[in-house]
Amino acid sequence: MRQLLIAGNWKMHGTRASAARLAGETLQALDASTDRDIVVCPPFVHLVEVGRAIQGSSVILGAQNLCAEEDGAYTGEVSGAMLRDCGCRYVIVGHSERRALYGENDALVARKFMAAQRASLTPILCLGETLEQRRRGQSREVVTRQLHAVLDAAGIAAFGQATIAYEPVWAIGTGNTATPEQAQEVHALIRSSLAAQDAKIAAAIRLLYGGSVKASNAAALFHMPDIDGGLVGGASLQAQEFAAICRAGAASI
Ligand code: PGA
Repeated sequence: MRQLLIAGNWKMHGTRASAARLAGETLQALDASTDRDIVVCPPFVHLVEVGRAIQGSSVILGAQNLCAEEDGAYTGEVSGAMLRDCGCRYVIVGHSERRALYGENDALVARKFMAAQRASLTPILCLGETLEQRRRGQSREVVTRQLHAVLDAAGIAAFGQATIAYEPVWAIGTGNTATPEQAQEVHALIRSSLAAQDAKIAAAIRLLYGGSVKASNAAALFHMPDIDGGLVGGASLQAQEFAAICRAGAASI
């Protein structure tokens, strides 16, 4: 049985003080249960503070993005090694906001995925179609293309140390969650694409759903056979709500 993984994507909010406070409140709100992994992903400049606040707890630190390059003249960028040095173990790669607002294409996302692994970070690779693409019936095609861009570049073995998040763009921050059945269909597609290359890796990898996950819909989503957790945005900024999502996860396995 795959252990559930719930990741909080805090996006670009807050101050060092408020991030540390949120981390503390999140720890307090969570129960002591260890039957799932919980990751929080604050902005870069809050990583050290949040790392300090969660030190000694079972909550894991992650980042929201990284540079595809290792070191050198890349003004404004942050490398995987720097994130690792700040205590990160996970990093989100290819979030739809990065793809849509910062021009990250499939090839760059694949390079970031590999850069994360070179730095001993577990990438959380985000895949998902836009509303327009879903309306045109292209969801499966888009997700398959995004997945294969990384699979072809990194190889199937790399997915033994990775997590994938299916995040339909039309569900992110909109309150319009995919139904458990809609999400399950795409998750099953992702797992079977991986299984075509390595059944063991496909069975073990955790596939997260993201897009307006809340305490009220988490259990139904996490109950689906190929949904192994969530990538939670807005709701992770409220400690009680995030903890309730984590509990819903625990109750569903
Ligand atoms: P949301 O964001 O939960 O606010 O929809 C999810 C995400 O962008 O990872």
